[in-house]
Amino acid sequence: MKIIRTLYDMTEYRVQQRDRGASVGFVPTMGALHEGHMSLVKKAVEENMVTVVSVFVNPIQFNNKEDFAKYPRTEEEDFKLLASAGVDAVFAPTAEEIYPEENCDNKEYALGTVAEVMEGKYRPGHFQGVARVLDILFRLVDPHRAYFGEKDFQQIAVVRNLVKSEGLKVEIVACPIKRANDGLALSSRNSRLSEEQRKAAPEIYETLKYSVEYSKDHSVRATHDTVVEHLDAIPGMRVEYFQIVDARTLQPVEEWEMSDWIVGCITVYVGDVRLIDNITYRTPH
Ligand code: PAJ
Repeated sequence: MKIIRTLYDMTEYRVQQRDRGASVGFVPTMGALHEGHMSLVKKAVEENMVTVVSVFVNPIQFNNKEDFAKYPRTEEEDFKLLASAGVDAVFAPTAEEIYPEENCDNKEYALGTVAEVMEGKYRPGHFQGVARVLDILFRLVDPHRAYFGEKDFQQIAVVRNLVKSEGLKVEIVACPIKRANDGLALSSRNSRLSEEQRKAAPEIYETLKYSVEYSKDHSVRATHDTVVEHLDAIPGMRVEYFQIVDARTLQPVEEWEMSDWIVGCITVYVGDVRLIDNITYRTPH
């Protein structure tokens, strides 16, 4: 597996692959890799001649300095995992490489209303930061397909809009959420949970699952309230938001009949660790 650190070397690698006519799959990550990331990598390896994975903790998408400082960094283990999964190249640049001083334009991306709700509202600037880094990475890696996890449900909608508004030529592939055996959605931030917090955290998915049953004979509002009340009652847990939305527009629904595809997106603080998850209430397929 090739380890690439600079824009120059990444471009050179890309040109080589283009010259030999290889299809390129790309998995952008911030490292601290787990089975969730690896499920995307596995799909990319299966579907493309060449797989490139980026490992870059993108400073400009963190609206909270402490979250950035505390974000886990496990580069050596990450590289081992990627090599054993059959990845061809990992791109792990420094922040100076991605954002050189002379290139500090404050480009504003047109990401649409899907970027204004939920994470967009609670993490100001977050999606502009995600868009900036993906715009740079997509142009550099120039992949045929890029793989994203449905754990970050809203991110996928935002990325699709980025691709459209920037006229990029990449197919966005959405992959299902990977969970631990007890149901907790895998996340790099789970490693920051204390033993006690880790024991309590599966209650998030338990509650979401229960709410799908509950929703069958209750209103959207009642379903929303039962989730929030249940989780807020657990010591050390606080729901930041829970929104039941149309999966395409990400705008809130008031009635179950308002859409054929409805998801509930949740953010919960467990102590000071911010976890996200989501569940499907209605699906067209
Ligand atoms: P990161 O949080 O490292 O996630 C990288 C990719 O892995 C994302 O597409 C995310 O949705 C997916 N992923 C994480 N946990 C998952 C799980 N349990 N099951 C399935 N997929 C999972 O998302 C980012 O990084 C950044 O915003 C990035 C896109 C790299 C831009 O900096």
